[in-house]
Amino acid sequence: MTDEAVLVKNRPAPSNPLRDPQDRRLPRIAGPCGLIIFGVTGDLARTKLMPAVYDLANRGLLPPGFALVGFARREWANEDFEKVVHDAVKEHARTPFREEVWKQLREGCRFVQGELGDDPSFERLRTTIDELDRERGTNGNHAFYLSVPPKLFPVTVRQLKEHGLADQGTEHWRRVVVEKPFGHNLESARELNQIVSEVFPPEAVFRIDHYLGKETVQNIFALRFANQMFEPVWNANYVDHVQITMAEDIGIGGRAGYYDGIGAARDVIQNHLLQLLALNAMEEPVSFDARALRIEKQKVLAAVQLPRRLDLHTAHGQYADGWAGGRKVGAYLDEEGIPKDSRTETYAAIKLEVDTRRWAGVPFYLRTGKRLPKRVTEVAVVFKRAPHLPFAATATEELGHNTLVMRIQPDEGITIRFGSKVPGTQLEIRDVTMDFAYGGAFTESSPEAYERLILDVLLGDPPLFPQHEEVELSWQILDPIVDFWAEHAKLEQYPSGTWGPSSADEMLARDGRTWRRP
Ligand code: BG6
Repeated sequence: MTDEAVLVKNRPAPSNPLRDPQDRRLPRIAGPCGLIIFGVTGDLARTKLMPAVYDLANRGLLPPGFALVGFARREWANEDFEKVVHDAVKEHARTPFREEVWKQLREGCRFVQGELGDDPSFERLRTTIDELDRERGTNGNHAFYLSVPPKLFPVTVRQLKEHGLADQGTEHWRRVVVEKPFGHNLESARELNQIVSEVFPPEAVFRIDHYLGKETVQNIFALRFANQMFEPVWNANYVDHVQITMAEDIGIGGRAGYYDGIGAARDVIQNHLLQLLALNAMEEPVSFDARALRIEKQKVLAAVQLPRRLDLHTAHGQYADGWAGGRKVGAYLDEEGIPKDSRTETYAAIKLEVDTRRWAGVPFYLRTGKRLPKRVTEVAVVFKRAPHLPFAATATEELGHNTLVMRIQPDEGITIRFGSKVPGTQLEIRDVTMDFAYGGAFTESSPEAYERLILDVLLGDPPLFPQHEEVELSWQILDPIVDFWAEHAKLEQYPSGTWGPSSADEMLARDGRTWRRP
């Protein structure tokens, strides 16, 4: 056998969940383990994390001895914590409430009252975890979920280290789950990474970008790489431009403390929207394992180019008062906890290009905003017009651009828009749409993003978690834009309930295009 043949023969089979027959037969069930949530009294824990844990338990995907530990300052006893989990599950869980599932989950609930900077608190946490290992067979396998503001990450991971809770072993694992924002710029992201990586090895760090946990976002892989008909036209020869929209009708709610000074671009473009861009623009990975996926995503992010004129090709704004859902709503500056002179943007739009052979010259327009007319997230791939239309000009007056829209939420599915002959004796062509809706095509309902992501953490399955390099590349894209806004740009107000500042429309008009009105 030649050396090369030996190499090929010994190469491990690529792990590809889309091809692995085992995956279809065996549900992915987490082994013995516990989940410890710091910041358990916060909104995220109550509305997303606790319900997701219950839904996983309800679907039989958690081990019988699973433990859920809450850590917070509140003076709660175990029973108080159990009640909070119970109420959160009843209010927010996706799957029906079943007493027997709840009973089993409740037996594994523990609360540790404490301060993050306080040693005795972490000793109590350690004792609780040791007890769980003995009583519920969690075997030393624990994931620590940092649902706390980023400024508290350093103290938390250091305490985990000092109290022996981050010790890795051959017989057990310790993982840390970090919620975004991963820093507020490149420099702080690097510092944060440095702190976390002093305590946990890279394979034990799970950075949550909950968009990657969404079914419709994972479906981008299926759409692009499981089909033959889209990929040949997925490039600059056929695509005119791409619009990625994440619109929200809500304001900032009670999140003033987090949001002010952060703003729309750092809050969701740096992570969710740039990830959507990467998934749509990347090349086919050699497999769907984490390493292969990250390589392709990083290549795309590294190829992203900013427009030379940030004043002309970006836009930002802040919501003024107006109307939302039929009621009068106040301005951002009137929200509780927001300084009257705040310059934080609640709307952001940017134009990017991807400097690769596949995408050269194709603009990717990204926009997001709060208090827009509706909640909708979509990726619209807008195609060029046919190079020649062999019809009378009047026949195609109402023909737009062919468009493929990935409807990420709330009306999950895919729409394809194309021209069709209007029935009648004349030749007249008008746009029609062809729709795929999850609700109509599948009987299974989609799991919540956090269900999928928490399960993947407990299984140690990393493809859906951005790696630090991706985070850095994303900040490299965003930093010059937010710095430019801070120094040079005027912040425009837009009335609540409208599609954002007029500068965003002008930005597209300069390119001879318009935003979609989903
Ligand atoms: C979060 C942002 O990451 O995503 C919020 O911090 C935003 O500001 C939220 O409201 C939207 O998530 P979803 O899943 O409702 O689109």
